[in-house]
Amino acid sequence: MSGSCFLAGAVLGALAFSSAAAPSRKPPKRSPELVEQGKATYAIYCVACHGERGAGDGSAAGRLNPRPRNFATEKFRQGQSVSQIFETLGKGVPGTAMVKFTNLSEADRWALAWYVLDLKAGK
Ligand code: HEC
Repeated sequence: MSGSCFLAGAVLGALAFSSAAAPSRKPPKRSPELVEQGKATYAIYCVACHGERGAGDGSAAGRLNPRPRNFATEKFRQGQSVSQIFETLGKGVPGTAMVKFTNLSEADRWALAWYVLDLKAGK
């Protein structure tokens, strides 16, 4: 039995490392500190397009096609779980001005994902 458990563990380990695009770890728990960190990062990297409240009305938004959606009122096409938003930040949205933000650390991207969910909830 212990032999097959070891094998299963090895296969799972290999899977976890095989795809960089898949979320490789569990999301960190939401906390006020994490959301604050996300808000601060959002103000630097995201606000010009997505706008302060995530309404898609940043100063650059009018020049974009497609425009950024309103996080609070429109459906997320790339998925709206915290893990899916984290993934969107790692991949970008092809065919739009939304580039991938792999220049930011994974910790920053998780914090951003939680903050985007706050904007979605109208908080
Ligand atoms: C240069 C403009 C620009 C910047 C900067 C930008 N975005 Fe975007 N973003 C877009 C556009 C355009 C889209 C595609 C249209 C849409 O889906 O809203 C998009 C899409 C998204 C989506 C996917 C929405 C969906 O439908 O699932 C998320 C989430 C997102 N952006 C978050 C962010 C975050 C967080 C930042 C800051 C790290 C950021 N964006 C920076 C323009 C930008």
